[in-house]
Amino acid sequence: MTTTTTFPLAFSTTPSQAARDEAEREEILADPGFGKHFTDHMVQITWTVDGGWHDAEVVPYGPITLDPAASVLHYAQEIFEGLKAYRHADGSIWSFRPEANALRLQRSAERLALPQLSTEDFIESLRQLIAVDRSWVPSAHETSLYLRPFMYASESFLGVRSAHKVDYRVIASPAGTYFTGGIRPLSIWLSTDYTRAGRGGLGAAKTGGNYAASLLPQEEAYRNGCAQVLFLDSDEGKYIEELGGMNVFLVRHDGTLITPELRGTILEGITRESVIRLAKDRGHAVEERPISVQEWRDGVASGEITEVFACGTAAVITPIGVLKSRDFEIGDASAEPGALTMSLREELTDIQYGRKPDRHGWLTQLG
Ligand code: PLP
Ligand code: COI
Repeated sequence: MTTTTTFPLAFSTTPSQAARDEAEREEILADPGFGKHFTDHMVQITWTVDGGWHDAEVVPYGPITLDPAASVLHYAQEIFEGLKAYRHADGSIWSFRPEANALRLQRSAERLALPQLSTEDFIESLRQLIAVDRSWVPSAHETSLYLRPFMYASESFLGVRSAHKVDYRVIASPAGTYFTGGIRPLSIWLSTDYTRAGRGGLGAAKTGGNYAASLLPQEEAYRNGCAQVLFLDSDEGKYIEELGGMNVFLVRHDGTLITPELRGTILEGITRESVIRLAKDRGHAVEERPISVQEWRDGVASGEITEVFACGTAAVITPIGVLKSRDFEIGDASAEPGALTMSLREELTDIQYGRKPDRHGWLTQLG
């Protein structure tokens, strides 16, 4: 095994001896759910402070052995990404803007004092996994293979400093729709007791701690019949930021889209950026600016706000029907999904699945 960094990395592959047979795989792919089943292989690459990135391998999917003193278990030095592989009608497999995920992983790495993996090695790691697990990319309508690259501090050391040994992995999970019940308007819960990120914090990084912080308010959301939690800014508790795992857009009756601006406290969603592009291409105005809860409430009451939706890799574009908090509830859970919401969803997925021309050059072939 090599221990020095080469650029680009050279991968070795060890095929799994326990790969599921076709019948078992097809049964899973017929009803994959989200994040429940995993393919037969995974990628691993190791980084050390002296050797850089090395030992790039595709290995059988399986448990990770970690020393109990591994610093990720104590100090949460961890980041991840989420993107999908889509099977096109001709059987080829594509991903959507993977270089944007590579760049975001690099920005997250910088914030979490982790080493950066090059965009080329990131994309190659996805290609290598698809090369052995391509039969796990489902072909039914609106299904995909969700790819989860992640990186964590694996050095055994209890002192608090950035780790000198880090591991990068990619696992893959066949995916249907994220929300059970398909594409129908969500009810979301406004968290007024808890915020997700503050100025100078980790909000723009895709790191496990942000999701850990969202779990208690997410439980509160479930208890109140809501599927996701909406966070407010931590300074004033007045402006909407994002959902636990998605960005959010409001649509005005004149077709203007409004979404919270990027100010370091929300994740810079790749779907968010793509929606902005597609909407502008159609001639819609898009405003990225602070949006107060009051503006949302007033807009719904006056008819000025006609649609609200969530977007992200897992959620794609999902309509929001109701905003609920301890003090008020607005919207209508049984309302039809908004027309613009659904047509943007259709356009985005048509591009992702190769049904419409990829006019922005967003697709990268993985296999
Ligand atoms: N915000 C959060 C907190 C997320 O977890 C996600 C999902 O990755 C998003 C926004 C949307 O990002 P993207 O569109 O890149 O998937
Ligand atoms: C994604 O959309 O990729 C995420 O990481 C969000 C999570 C809700 C699965």
